Amino acid sequence: MKSIKKKIAILRKKILKYEYFYHTLDQSIISDVEYDYLFNRLYHLESQNPELITSDSPTQKIGSHRINKFKKIVHFSPMLSLENTFSLYGYLNFQKKIKSFKHCLREISFCCELKLDGVALSIVYEEGELIQAGTRGDGYIGENVTDNVRMIKSIPIKLKGYNIPKRLEIRGEIIILKSDFIELNNQLKINNKKIFSNPRNAAAGSLRQINPIITAQRKLLFFCHGYNFFNELDDISSHYHRLKKCQEWGFLIKEEMLLCYTSAEVYNFYKNLQEKRCLLDFHIDGIVVKVDSIPLQNKLGFNTKFPRWAIAFKFPSEEHITRLIKIKFQVGRTGVITPVGYLEPIQISGVIVKKASLYNENEINRLNIHINDFVIVCRSGDVIPKIIGVLEERRLHDAEKIFFPIFCPACKSKLIKNKEEPIIRCHSGFTCHAQKQKMIHHFFSKSALNVMGLGPEIIKKLIKNNIIQNINSVFFLTSLQLQQIDNIKEKKSISIINAIINCKKTTFSRFIYALSIPHVGKMVSNNIAAYFKTAQKLLDTNILELSIIPGVGKIIANSIFCYISSPSNRRIIMELTNNIGIFWDKEEISSKILKKTLFFNKRIVLTGTFIHYSRKQCINILVGLGAKISNTVSKNTDFLIYGNKVGSKYSNALRLKVEVINEEKFLMLI
Ligand code: IVH
Repeated sequence: MKSIKKKIAILRKKILKYEYFYHTLDQSIISDVEYDYLFNRLYHLESQNPELITSDSPTQKIGSHRINKFKKIVHFSPMLSLENTFSLYGYLNFQKKIKSFKHCLREISFCCELKLDGVALSIVYEEGELIQAGTRGDGYIGENVTDNVRMIKSIPIKLKGYNIPKRLEIRGEIIILKSDFIELNNQLKINNKKIFSNPRNAAAGSLRQINPIITAQRKLLFFCHGYNFFNELDDISSHYHRLKKCQEWGFLIKEEMLLCYTSAEVYNFYKNLQEKRCLLDFHIDGIVVKVDSIPLQNKLGFNTKFPRWAIAFKFPSEEHITRLIKIKFQVGRTGVITPVGYLEPIQISGVIVKKASLYNENEINRLNIHINDFVIVCRSGDVIPKIIGVLEERRLHDAEKIFFPIFCPACKSKLIKNKEEPIIRCHSGFTCHAQKQKMIHHFFSKSALNVMGLGPEIIKKLIKNNIIQNINSVFFLTSLQLQQIDNIKEKKSISIINAIINCKKTTFSRFIYALSIPHVGKMVSNNIAAYFKTAQKLLDTNILELSIIPGVGKIIANSIFCYISSPSNRRIIMELTNNIGIFWDKEEISSKILKKTLFFNKRIVLTGTFIHYSRKQCINILVGLGAKISNTVSKNTDFLIYGNKVGSKYSNALRLKVEVINEEKFLMLI
């Protein structure tokens, strides 16, 4: 007990010190990951020993990390996704690339696993005890679902067996069996509750319950397919055997797992499971093939999105025949006209499909699709409904040819074809009511200014009743005006008004994203915000300057320039920032995060060849973290990052006493 008391005291002291530096001195002396980690460790020790909780503990403070459900957690390393292929040809290409990597001549073994259609989860163990669990989120930041995960019987709270690393991260999939899903929905129906549309949603919904007791009642299963911090057990150099080790520690792994040496063996495994698929009591959407050797995995590394050592070899999507009832031409937020096909409802892979995008005019011509045609529909990538073909021989005499409109279906202005892309656009902007409605909705949406409660239906009604005319007028809404809309009572109207007031303090990148500039998504908005910092500087820019911002190519630079050249857009921006009072910290969150990394504003030189990233990728990462890259080492250089086969830059750095960082440390620091 004494040593636990001591551990708790040390953790509290550390956390309080970091909090003092962060909140009072505005300095971050550790990373968010480390902070969250220490915090969770403390929380865990305290919950195991409640008699040791004191009111001055950081865990007991309002605003501390643990007070709210589902606080954010930063993953130790990104939870990436997998490259997909739906064909043997695609798979063989993957194998070829691996074999040609560094002219690898020796035999390579591949570990074939099931691709479970579940919810990805990361669980962290410290000295064998579960201290944190998080959902995948955006891959970098997930939701802290530790309390709920502790309730899942197939997840050990304390690991058993030997050689458990001091810190261990287990990654895997939460699923619910098909049979348990049916039973759960029956139960929900009896209790007049909303049912889940498929087992995956049921697993996700059950995991993210506010009350962990409900999670405990759901029959969730967790299967492990990955891990981190295995370094203390470097002698197990095979992925297959590492998973077996995880099984010894108490995790479920799928027994359908096979080590293969040839593509024929892999294909056999794939075909076999494709046939068995419908007999299994859980959904799989393919197999995952991973290079088994961990040293080779490390050499292959990752590209920006996927590991190079694994691929998802997916089963072809189910194809079904149904009828195209009608086509609607939708006007998007940025004026793009998209034809959407309405179908006779049909169930595909457990989901009812009622409509599918036909993307653009080229697609309509390519398919030669007519209204009333029988069409073949699948779910592209097993998700998005897609019309892949037309049964022309079954075309009926009442089939109608589809013509792309010449005028905007909403505002009737003439549509214009884009020269660079197969896009037809309405250029009326705010004067087109369809665009206006979508732009206003987008401006206040979660990823933009984040006003809860201003959904598309409410915006539509506010415009229809002429209560709002543009974005600015939303800021002058009164509680009484909101109550003119059905279903909005006093309490809700007040909370919307408060949210509108609070949204004025935002970040520059959210503000830019909120403006609905064509081609400008969240990432580009981040980069633009980090570059300009103020609205005035953005309004004063030119195409040349825009083009040097990371992620901004010719099309995006043109689009931004075109947007800021329009007098009405300039007026909107000025009114929002000067009159309405939208503001952001000069150093917004993204640059705060940047500042927390060692590389912010540092002069960096790279030398040698890198294993995990190409040199260009390393440069992109560093620039993204606010570093300045140069080619030669001088006494002004802050760090030299080196890979294999270093040259004279390395000896120059040592001579000039420039700090040198190897690839492993670099990876850790980023
Ligand atoms: S390995 C770097 N193995 O599929 C990613 N993932 O599309 C390594 N998944 O987010 C993932 N079964 O949640 C791996 N046997 C399996 C899997 C699997 C399902 C999920 C996983 C991942 C997604 C990628």
